[in-house]
Amino acid sequence: MIKTWPLAALTALFVASFSSLAGADNEAVSFKKDLVPILKTRCAVCHLTGQEAGMMALHPRAAYSNLVNIESVEVAGMKRVSPYQPEASYLMHKLLGSHLDVGGTGTQMPFGSQPLSSGEIASFKKWISEGAAEN
Ligand code: HEC
Repeated sequence: MIKTWPLAALTALFVASFSSLAGADNEAVSFKKDLVPILKTRCAVCHLTGQEAGMMALHPRAAYSNLVNIESVEVAGMKRVSPYQPEASYLMHKLLGSHLDVGGTGTQMPFGSQPLSSGEIASFKKWISEGAAEN
């Protein structure tokens, strides 16, 4: 069970991103318009000053510089966001709940509440695949 559920989540993510490509909306994901609002409402309450567990601030002005090309504190050698490489981005594993499979610790994010929707997770994946621009 524990081993199979991340795979199921990855499959759901693949299907979600595939269907969004096949659909009308094939525009690039905008970090500021599409992702910052999610980080602000679902994440910044805990990741506010950068001194809390996780050691990163995710409020609108700090999120990009705390994520992209910054090494994770939980998995040495893995970036939180590695541009063009969602599978090598610890953020994706924390959102999907596959973080333990890559040597991580702790829980799926957001801690203690409902996971992001598959559409929201697909947007993070697409943004990283497109190069994780500050767009
Ligand atoms: C209720 C508080 C809380 C919320 C909300 C929350 N986090 Fe966390 N986050 C934590 C705690 C505590 C840790 C460290 C322990 C753990 O990983 O479970 C952490 C760790 C992390 C890490 C690991 C950082 C690293 O460098 O290894 C990432 C990435 C992360 N959170 C992303 C997010 C994202 C993205 C959201 C919103 C979708 C979010 N968190 C929402 C409390 C929270």
